[in-house]
Amino acid sequence: MRGGGRATGGRTLWDSSVGKKTVMAVSGLVMLLYLVVHMIGNLKIFFGPGEFDHYAHWLRVVGEPFMHYEWTLWLVRVVLLVAVVAHATSAYQLSRRDIKARPTKYVHKKRRASYATRTMRWGGIILGLFLVWHLLDLTTGTVHPGFRPGHPYRNVVDTFSTWYGNVLYIVAMLALGLHVRHGFWSAAQSLGVGSRTRDRFLKTTANVLALVLTVGFVSVPVAVMTQVVS
Ligand code: HEM
Repeated sequence: MRGGGRATGGRTLWDSSVGKKTVMAVSGLVMLLYLVVHMIGNLKIFFGPGEFDHYAHWLRVVGEPFMHYEWTLWLVRVVLLVAVVAHATSAYQLSRRDIKARPTKYVHKKRRASYATRTMRWGGIILGLFLVWHLLDLTTGTVHPGFRPGHPYRNVVDTFSTWYGNVLYIVAMLALGLHVRHGFWSAAQSLGVGSRTRDRFLKTTANVLALVLTVGFVSVPVAVMTQVVS
């Protein structure tokens, strides 16, 4: 037996595939919750710059006077960062294990990862890259010419006034839909929620969530392109 006490128990759980899948499921659900809230918040763009910018300001003062300016926002950011790192690390480690466990080279071709697994891996990579670009675009403004801090409405309209902004976001949102669709279902199985009676409901929920998120997010660039929002 290696060592003793609680730390070993935690270590063994993390080392096991079941432990890593549980970490993936929980961190995925945390991010999913954030995405639903973020998507609903983004729809405020349809009510004009006043309401959208006011909402962005509220994100910074929420919890006051108990919380200081931006404390709640930073708390959310830390939780999200932990979720992203945990999700990506366990995904990477699980796929390394999966590749190592495959039989020798010449049988290799027949035993490729399934379509769903490959879609999840590539989707995850696309979403990770998108997230970095998105933060540099609309949070820090590093890759956003003429970025105006405190004016997210203008910044969003600017982003979707470029062809590459639209392409990047729409491709990422489609990847997000596919990722959520399969990810939600997988998370339910990893957490042991699935059963013969519940599977139908879980699949429908996964499809509805994926569709609502994709349509909700994509509606913003489409609205700017069609000048419904300008
Ligand atoms: C059309 C789609 C989207 C639009 C228009 C949009 C818009 C925005 C805007 C305006 C901000 C800056 C908010 C502020 O500083 O007040 C922001 C931040 C952020 N967005 Fe999005 N977003 C979209 C999709 C996504 C997606 C798909 C993800 C995740 C995969 C995401 C994750 C984030 C994160 C993590 C932040 C940083 C929040 C913070 O810490 O301040 N967004 N988004």
